Amino acid sequence: MGTGTVSRENKTAATPDRIGTPQIRAAKGAVPLVCLTAYTTPMAKALDPYCDLLLVGDSLAMVVYGLETTRGVTLDMMINHGQAVMRGAERACVVVDLPHGSYESSTYQAISSAARVLAETGCQAVKLEGGEEMADTVKAIVDAGVPVLGHVGLLPQKAEHRGGFKIQGKDDAGAKQVMADARAIADAGAFALVIEGTVEPVARAITEEISIPTIGIGASPACDGQILVTHDLVGTFADFTPKFVKRYADLGAAMSAAAGAYADDVRARRFPGLEHCFGVEKKAG
Ligand code: KIV
Repeated sequence: MGTGTVSRENKTAATPDRIGTPQIRAAKGAVPLVCLTAYTTPMAKALDPYCDLLLVGDSLAMVVYGLETTRGVTLDMMINHGQAVMRGAERACVVVDLPHGSYESSTYQAISSAARVLAETGCQAVKLEGGEEMADTVKAIVDAGVPVLGHVGLLPQKAEHRGGFKIQGKDDAGAKQVMADARAIADAGAFALVIEGTVEPVARAITEEISIPTIGIGASPACDGQILVTHDLVGTFADFTPKFVKRYADLGAAMSAAAGAYADDVRARRFPGLEHCFGVEKKAG
C-alpha cells in the first residue's frame, strides 16, 4: 500500500472537490484511508482538510448526548447532524449512520430511511451494521441507488443483546462468522467495510480477501483505512477509553481549564474589561 492521498478523479459537476464513494473504493490497496467521526459543522470544518471520509456516526448518542448506548438516536436526529456536517465538509466523502430501528424491519423501511438520509442531507452514502443477515438489505439499498458502507465485527447497536462490547473472532467459529459476514456485505455491493473490535489476524485476512476497502477500528494496521471516534481522539469523551484509541489531545481538560479561568475572572470582576464593551471612549495616549 502506498502513502499518498485519495484520488479525486471522476468528481461530479455538482460537487467538484468532493471525494465520492468510487474514489474510496478505488483506494483499496493503494493509499491508506483516513476516516473520523463528525457530528457538527465546526467539527466538520476542522476535520475535513485531513480526512478522506467523515462518518456521522450514531456514536453521537454516547459522546454528544450522554446516552449509555448508541441506540437512543432517531433517524431525524441523524439527519439533523448529517445536514450540519455537510455544511462544514467540502472535500471528504460524508457517510451517515442509519440508526437502530430505521432499517431492520423490512427492505422497504431500509430503502426509505436510506433514501431520506441521502435526499435530506446531501451526503454520499449511509452505513448500517450487520453481516450475513443484512446482506439482502444492503443489496436492496445499493440497487435503489444509495451507496452503502458496511459494518461487521463488534456491532454497537446489538452489543446489549450480545453480552456487551466484546471483541469478535476470538475462536474458530467466531472468526469464520466475521469472515462470512464480511464476504456477504462485500458481495451485496457495499463500497467499503468498517471492521470494528475484531482480532487482528481475522481483520487482516478479511482485508486480504475482499475486493472493497476495509476501514478498521480496533481491528488491524493491515486494514485499508482507519477510523476513530473523534471525541476519543481529542479527549472530550473520557467516560472510558478503549484499548484501540490513541489520544492525540486533551481538549476536555483544556475546556475545563478555560471555564475555570473564566469563572475566576468573572468572580474577581476582571472580565469583561472595558475593551470588551461598546460605547467606551478610548483614552488618548
Ligand atoms: O457510530 C460510529 O461512530 C461508528 C464508528 C465507531 C465506526 O460506527
